[in-house]
Amino acid sequence: MSTALPEAWTIHEGQFWLRGERPANAVEFKPELGTWNVYGHPEAHEILSDPATFSSDTARLLPEKTLGDTKELSAGNLLQLDPPLHNKMRKLVSRAFTPKVVADLEPRIAELTHELLDEAAGRDHLELVADLAYPLPVIVIAELLGVPASDRHLFREWVDRLFESPEQFSLTDDSEEQQKRLQDQLAVSRKFTDYLGEHADERRRNPREDLLTKLVEAEVDGERLTRSEIVNFAQVLLLAGHITTTMLLGNTVLCLDAFPEWDARVRADRALLAPVIEESLRYLSPFGAVARVTNREVTVGVTTIPADQMLMVWVAAANRDPRVFAEPDSFDPTREDITHAHLAFGRGIHFCIGAPLARLEGRTALNILLDRYPSLRTIPGEPPAFQPNPAMTGVTKLPLSV
Ligand code: HEM
Repeated sequence: MSTALPEAWTIHEGQFWLRGERPANAVEFKPELGTWNVYGHPEAHEILSDPATFSSDTARLLPEKTLGDTKELSAGNLLQLDPPLHNKMRKLVSRAFTPKVVADLEPRIAELTHELLDEAAGRDHLELVADLAYPLPVIVIAELLGVPASDRHLFREWVDRLFESPEQFSLTDDSEEQQKRLQDQLAVSRKFTDYLGEHADERRRNPREDLLTKLVEAEVDGERLTRSEIVNFAQVLLLAGHITTTMLLGNTVLCLDAFPEWDARVRADRALLAPVIEESLRYLSPFGAVARVTNREVTVGVTTIPADQMLMVWVAAANRDPRVFAEPDSFDPTREDITHAHLAFGRGIHFCIGAPLARLEGRTALNILLDRYPSLRTIPGEPPAFQPNPAMTGVTKLPLSV
């Protein structure tokens, strides 16, 4: 068992995404943000399992002047839909993500990993994110969707601009500054959807064997998807499908560096790689928080929350809840039942649809990385850099000596 990451790797100021000294079942209202923060595992589990009480339609709490602008962006956004529309859309995408479709991607993931590492061959260092962890998942999801992987510099620019702010969104802040930040994000999102819209229109004219064509042709209960539904849905896939997996790859390598006994063990026995990845997902959960809105007054833990309130459910903190995980701050891939207990992929009807793909990419790429590099170490004086957005936990730069 191994404890604590080196102090130099401070992930977000004060690691406030963790529960800190608060009681495990604490639910804390932050007046400056207008949000209720949930840190405990049983509480998070209960919220994510009850979509009738805890809605995913968080946009409905936005101030009217902002909401007007966002309406066109929320159609087809699986993450923000509640039943029954969610069931319809989810059924559709589940057809594209069958276990066979995902398993068939393994040779391509291996090929891409080798190609990317070939480009870095001969150097005495790797920058894991730029060399492998960023390009691999974005190429995989772009190819699956059917948009040119060579446009990935555009996706990167858009994603960085969407998540660059270290500020949490505040429902109580109607300052110019927050409005400007939101307007900037909406403008970026629009560039993204315009881009995807052009590709969707092209598929309508010239169908191909890709997911975008499937979305264009798909019928849900006898109805075709609208253009906005298609592009917003494709945007969610492209966003959710790469940045999180980048963090998974980077965070796992970071954990192996921080806990060298596990580096040695997993190199000697690759069957340990899958549990190491799961423990890394628990220890440094890429999607740190998910948002919900209360449909009615409800008690969470010992706290009563009125209707129409925004909850930030900190799965990163829930994954360190001592009521569920013994010695939660220890990195221990031998924990029992870790896969079922951690909430890094969410829970309930919105459980991550890409989890099998993310796990496959993690196993395939990291196996090859360990084969090709017998030693990978962080470089003194060149610490890793982390996502500025508090709801994300992951490296954005990881220089390694080889
Ligand atoms: C949903 C995490 C990779 C697509 C989610 C949710 C979490 C999550 C926590 C639930 C959100 C909520 O309840 O509001 C992650 C992590 C990943 C990962 C940690 C990598 C390590 C992927 C990949 C894809 C993907 C590779 C696509 C190829 C989605 C989609 C949803 C989702 C479409 C929405 C599902 C729904 O609302 O029904 N993900 N994800 N994710 N994820 Fe992932």
